[in-house]
Amino acid sequence: MMETQIRFDFINKYKNKPILVKAPGRINIIGEHTDYNMGYVLPAAIEQSIFFAVHSNLSHKINIETSLSEPDQVVFNLDGTHVRFDSFWGNYFKAIIEILNEEDFPLVGFDCVFGGDIPIGAGLSSSAALCCGFIHAVAEVCRLTIPKESIAKIAQKAEHKIGLNCGLMDQFAVLFGKKENAIFLDCSNLSFEYVPIDLKGYSWVLINSNIKHSLAIDSEYNKRRASCETIVKTIKQFKDHVTSLRDITADDLESIKSKVSPTDFIRATYVLNENARVLRMMKALRDGDAAEVGKILLQGHWAMSKQYEITTPELDLLVRSGEKLDGILGSRMMGGGFGGCTINLMKSENMNQNITSILATYKAKTGIDAEFHHVRIDDGVHTLIS
Ligand code: GLA
Repeated sequence: MMETQIRFDFINKYKNKPILVKAPGRINIIGEHTDYNMGYVLPAAIEQSIFFAVHSNLSHKINIETSLSEPDQVVFNLDGTHVRFDSFWGNYFKAIIEILNEEDFPLVGFDCVFGGDIPIGAGLSSSAALCCGFIHAVAEVCRLTIPKESIAKIAQKAEHKIGLNCGLMDQFAVLFGKKENAIFLDCSNLSFEYVPIDLKGYSWVLINSNIKHSLAIDSEYNKRRASCETIVKTIKQFKDHVTSLRDITADDLESIKSKVSPTDFIRATYVLNENARVLRMMKALRDGDAAEVGKILLQGHWAMSKQYEITTPELDLLVRSGEKLDGILGSRMMGGGFGGCTINLMKSENMNQNITSILATYKAKTGIDAEFHHVRIDDGVHTLIS
């Protein structure tokens, strides 16, 4: 098992028994690009995780290493300046150590080995798991009390420092996840409730397009956010109380149509509709109405494709192939966009056949091997061995 391996690697190298922390990835049932617009989201933590083994080292150095992609190591001084640094993931830790310093958390030197099985760039929030898990591990080894909500905000700040102006959905899901439940989160005030998403006779399946979203996503993602902010600013001139798209009605939007670009207008329309889809999804899940759940997934996907323009031809192909198959109720791209996975609701009885069929069509049309994962909902970040 992955966690055993990480722990073993740590003991082998440092001859100490480490604290072991588990930080899961996440899925999102629906509610995409709504979080930074103070809207609704419906994510859940999953079993694919990153594990951190940590132990204090009585020095003024923080040594971090992984065998995640290839053996790699970064070394920091306690103030976040680096001794050795040449990996991309090191940027996240650097940002976090700097923020913890800015916020006056007293750090001690420690050693850390981490690794996991969340596919990177697949829309499963490997970076939120990396950041939230690391902050939790730092809190453990430095004996700090950092509430989950603060961990989420520090992790979000780290993403912003690196260049992605993300919302809080991923961090929240990774931290507050609960076995067998999704989290219905209202991003305007961070109130949430747990919602079982199990539908009898149906299964949730991820299909990874194996198109990795890359740094390109950052600028496209930030452009979407900027469009939404432009709309808010324009409406605020007439309605002073408006601070986010959450405060805006379809009529408000219509009233400024001639004053904004068609692109900004359509993007804001998408966000308003997506919030409504999350609420409809909640009702459909509570009613156990699998057909309606599937319909909403598909509506969400095609709105992301045609209105918000964040899908790829490959993701559209995966969804379209599913639409043609009996037993796939619906699917949609998941996460920030421009690559990664689709989430699918499938009838369990002919699921395997349908997965095989989608993968074959995909391979024939793109030449790419897609892969699938059964969704297993798990608990949020926690300490396995203290
Ligand atoms: C990324 C961001 C999240 C959220 C999603 C889209 O995962 O990190 O904050 O905006 O994209 O829903």
